[in-house]
Amino acid sequence: MKCLLTGAGGQLATELARCAPADVDVRSMSIESLDITSPDQIASHFESIRPDVVINAAAWTDVDGAEENESEAATINSHGARLLAESCRAHSARMIHVSTDFVFDGRSGRPYPPDAETSPLSAYGRTKRDGERAILETLPSSGLVVRTAWLYSSHGHNFLLTMLKLMSERNHIKVVCDQHGTPTSAASLAGTIWDLAGTSASGLYHWTDGGHTSWHGFAQAIHDIARMKGILDHDVTIEPIPGDQWPTPARRPASSVLDIASTEAIIDRTASPWEEELSSILDDIPVMNGKMDE
Ligand SMILES: NC(=O)c1ccc[n+]([C@@H]2O[C@H](COP(=O)([O-])OP(=O)(O)OC[C@H]3O[C@@H](n4cnc5c(N)ncnc54)[C@H](OP(=O)(O)O)[C@@H]3O)[C@@H](O)[C@H]2O)c1
Repeated sequence: MKCLLTGAGGQLATELARCAPADVDVRSMSIESLDITSPDQIASHFESIRPDVVINAAAWTDVDGAEENESEAATINSHGARLLAESCRAHSARMIHVSTDFVFDGRSGRPYPPDAETSPLSAYGRTKRDGERAILETLPSSGLVVRTAWLYSSHGHNFLLTMLKLMSERNHIKVVCDQHGTPTSAASLAGTIWDLAGTSASGLYHWTDGGHTSWHGFAQAIHDIARMKGILDHDVTIEPIPGDQWPTPARRPASSVLDIASTEAIIDRTASPWEEELSSILDDIPVMNGKMDE
């Protein structure tokens, strides 16, 4: 199977390339070689590679930055996704696309199943919702959209690395305690995407690691595990604060826990608790003299 993978260099694409099954020939494309907003570049890569499947891990992921740049974010997250889907349709390729818990408003009070109504609070969420719609409309039987949440890995820009850097520099930090979701390792999501690629699934699916917490709970676990593993050389007080004391340009859902049962059923595997995945990713974190390696 030949796979065209977009967004190489990003958190998820890096893990997808790293753990691809042996029988998949993955052609990873960074934005420099394939800009998904360029019809000419897409056409040329489809002609040369002739992929059986396209995995789109390219995205505008700056949630706050999208508030002031919604049309630029939409060009990548919605229009670019549609261009890829149209080429998949023209070449009879399957497409796996990644979306976000931020398509929900977080008011439901229980985990969101894949068919729950979307109601994004932010510009980023709207552009991602429109991208999902583009895939499902263009590829009703060969498009697969996997929503995930709170993605992190040992590289790239993410909450885990931001927290570790802050904790290495300070003795006291404040973290929001009234927004709930599920930290999800990019490695675990990548494994699940490859598992889904091995099924004939299409439509909407959810994947996160198991359980849920707040940003504060996530930060506290990062601290505690990093201390235990010797990644941090001092204790840090992590003060819980409400979100209204940490204003951000984009509004975020109060609780965006995803119901992943249909994915667990189709891949015949349950998600590991998010704390276990975090502990295993922390084993890969480079540390130099008690400070984060930047
Ligand atoms: N990060 C999260 O917490 C989170 C949560 C839920 C869902 N998701 C979704 O998960 C997916 C993967 O996210 P991630 O965290 O791996 O993102 P990431 O680390 O920001 O990687 C995205 C990659 O896409 C590239 N890119 C941007 N515009 C592009 C374009 N026009 N053409 C081709 N490539 C382009 C970026 O390149 P540059 O770096 O050069 O811009 C970057 O390498 C995305 O669909 C995201 O919306 C992420």
